[in-house]
Formats: sequence, C-alpha cells, structure tokens
Amino acid sequence: MQDARFPLGGLGYVGVGAPDPIAWREFGTKVCGLTPALIPPGPRRQGIPIANPDAAGVADDGSVFLKMDRRQWRLAIHPANTPGLAYLGFELPTATDLARAVDAIGRHRVEIRRGTEDERQARSVADLAVLHDPAGHRLELFTGPIVDQPPEPDFDIEFLTGPLGMGHVVLYVPEIEPALAFYRDVLGFRRTDYMQFGPGGMGIHFLRCTRRHHSLALLQLGPPSGLQHLMLESTTIDGVGLALDRALAAGVRITSGLGRHRNDKTVSFYMQGPSGFDVEIGWDGVLVGDDWVEHEFAGGGDDWGHHGLTAEALAPRD
Ligand SMILES: [Fe+2]
Repeated sequence: MQDARFPLGGLGYVGVGAPDPIAWREFGTKVCGLTPALIPPGPRRQGIPIANPDAAGVADDGSVFLKMDRRQWRLAIHPANTPGLAYLGFELPTATDLARAVDAIGRHRVEIRRGTEDERQARSVADLAVLHDPAGHRLELFTGPIVDQPPEPDFDIEFLTGPLGMGHVVLYVPEIEPALAFYRDVLGFRRTDYMQFGPGGMGIHFLRCTRRHHSLALLQLGPPSGLQHLMLESTTIDGVGLALDRALAAGVRITSGLGRHRNDKTVSFYMQGPSGFDVEIGWDGVLVGDDWVEHEFAGGGDDWGHHGLTAEALAPRD
C-alpha cells in the first residue's frame, strides 16, 4: 500500500498497562469474546499448555495475554499502577523489511533501536525494533510472530484479522502536525480521510497501512496523549449484537450505542473497558484501494446511531 521500502502489514499487537490484568481477562473473554493465550510469551515452557483455568493466559509476571486468531496473542495487559498504553506493534513481512525500516527511519533522524533478546521473548517474535512517536507513544515494528491454534471463544464471534491486522486504535496526540508528519512521512501511513472539530488542529485523522480504512487514527482534543479506544472487528453483525448483549448483561458502561460511522461504514458500539480506554466492537468496515482519494468529511461522523459519541465522550477519563 505505502512506500515499498518497508511495507507495514497492519496493527499486529497491542500492549496496555492496568492495575488488575485478571479483571481485564474477564472482560476480554466474557464480554469481547477473546480467548486466553494457550502459552503466554516469555521463556519457553516446552510448549505445555497450562491446565489451571485460573492461570489461563497469565504469564509469570502476572501479565495477561489474549488471542483473537491463530496468532499466539494479540492483546497484552501488563500489571501497572497507572493504566495506559504500553506499546503498539506494527508488523513487517520479513526480516529484510525490518532491516530496511530501521535504516529508512534512522535516516529521518528518528531514534530507533533493535529489540533485545528479552524483548523478543516478551513479545514472542523473531525480531523487533523500538521507537516512539512525537507524542511519546512506544511503537514496535516486528516480524516473525508465533502462530499456534485457532481460538476457542466461549461465544459465537470470529474476528476479522489476517492481512488487515487486529483492528485499529485511536490515539490522543497533543499536536496534530508533528504526529501526522511522523506517521505519514517516516512510517509511510496514508491518510484516508479526516474531520476537523475546531481551532488549533482539533480533529481526527484516519491513517491506513493496509486495505483496512484505518489501523490508526490521531485525535487532537488538547494536551493529552494516550489510547482513546481499541477497535476489534467481527466477521458478522451477529458477533457485534451478541457482544453488546453480553456487555449489557455484565453491567459494562456503553459509551456509545449501536451506529454506523459515515467514513469507514463500520457498524459498531463502544464500551468502557476496565482500564480507562474504550473498546469498540464493529463489523462491515470498508476496504480501501489505491484509487481512494483522501478527503475531509464534515456534517457529522455517523449515518445513524452512535448516540453518546460526543466531544465530551471522546475526552480522556481519569
Ligand atoms: Fe473506531
């Protein structure tokens, strides 16, 4: 899709910090429909799955790893007193692509370093490189993830991943221009569309690195940085509706009811996750080809629904 120097393959994994990773595991499995990792990353355990259900998906340090597909894991929740985004992993097809990426990014005078053996083990990847965006978010470019068994969720949901990656994230950035320049010029994302809310660059910009309408959106509302929401895409509308039923039954706060976004056409709802950021469960997002023309859109972000998705609702929570 983008500059062939190093073709990003989508959002591969997300790591967050949370005071109670087990609470996140319960939300992730019983509401979202994720599955505990069969074998959490870390020093090899001779490939023996853990039989104790209390320990499902839990690594030695108390981190919880959840899977969505045949990847060993996609979402990690690490013990942390202060909740927040720990890292985003973007995938590259080969070790050669990773080497090219490190070289090309370094030429932009952006600090990037190869991952250590401990970091490779912690993520279960063949190799990775670490850098930060202008807002301070930690990014990892990786190659060679571990693949194991398909997930066996307790509920009827299948996630759309593969070449599109695991979904998308929306990040708060304090200044939009440096962030846009970094993701577009240094990493090679392409802007699909954007919406402006107010003065001083306030708005949201949707960026893609696969055919998914966006793998990343940059939201400027003011000073904060961090993760606003994580979106996971179901292959069916029933997967969304059933997740909404489970969220309501579990008393999870629905921050925006069911609706269809105007730009990516995703039918989705948003709910408050256990550690600050929202989780969006969606379906039917558009795929974008090379003939797509970048544009600004205005006049509301939704064809219908998504009630509650206001500027106040988008503001960060303590
Ligand atoms: Fe979203």
